[in-house]
Amino acid sequence: MKPVFIVVLFVATFSISVSKAFPGYIEWIAPETAKNLVNPLKGNSAAILEGKKLFTQLCAVCHGDKGKGDGVGGATLNPKPRNFTLDKTQNQADGEFFWKMSEGRPPMASYKTILSTTQRWQLVNYLRTFKK
Ligand code: HEC
Repeated sequence: MKPVFIVVLFVATFSISVSKAFPGYIEWIAPETAKNLVNPLKGNSAAILEGKKLFTQLCAVCHGDKGKGDGVGGATLNPKPRNFTLDKTQNQADGEFFWKMSEGRPPMASYKTILSTTQRWQLVNYLRTFKK
């Protein structure tokens, strides 16, 4: 084999392995019951403002100010913090967001004891503002 092919092969293999940042990644799926949770603050715009404050204090470091998953604290994490502007993310029920932030999953903490139920729903309302 010519050296140039070896180089091409090496680069190809290497880029496949880095693009799949986390080969063992298992999709994070909330249980069916989470989908049926009713958001008590649905349509409440004051809640969005409260959610924004919380997000800026606690979440933006990883998820980024604009919710794109590009916060400095998330740069080296695996998996990467979720991008809330993607349809894939927004196509979930309010209850799924609520359940995920309540339970957490490494490297993200569980916010069940850190934040009240109301605060978590306020955050759900704010996360919806990232929808494109
Ligand atoms: C230490 C960094 C970090 C912080 C701080 C953080 N997150 Fe996350 N978050 C993550 C990571 C990483 C994921 C992706 C986890 C996965 O896919 O397994 C995630 C995923 C999520 C998800 C699930 C999205 C989806 O589509 O599955 C929600 C909802 C969420 N975060 C909300 C929040 C909220 C609200 C806060 C603040 C209270 C917060 N996060 C703070 C790192 C963080």
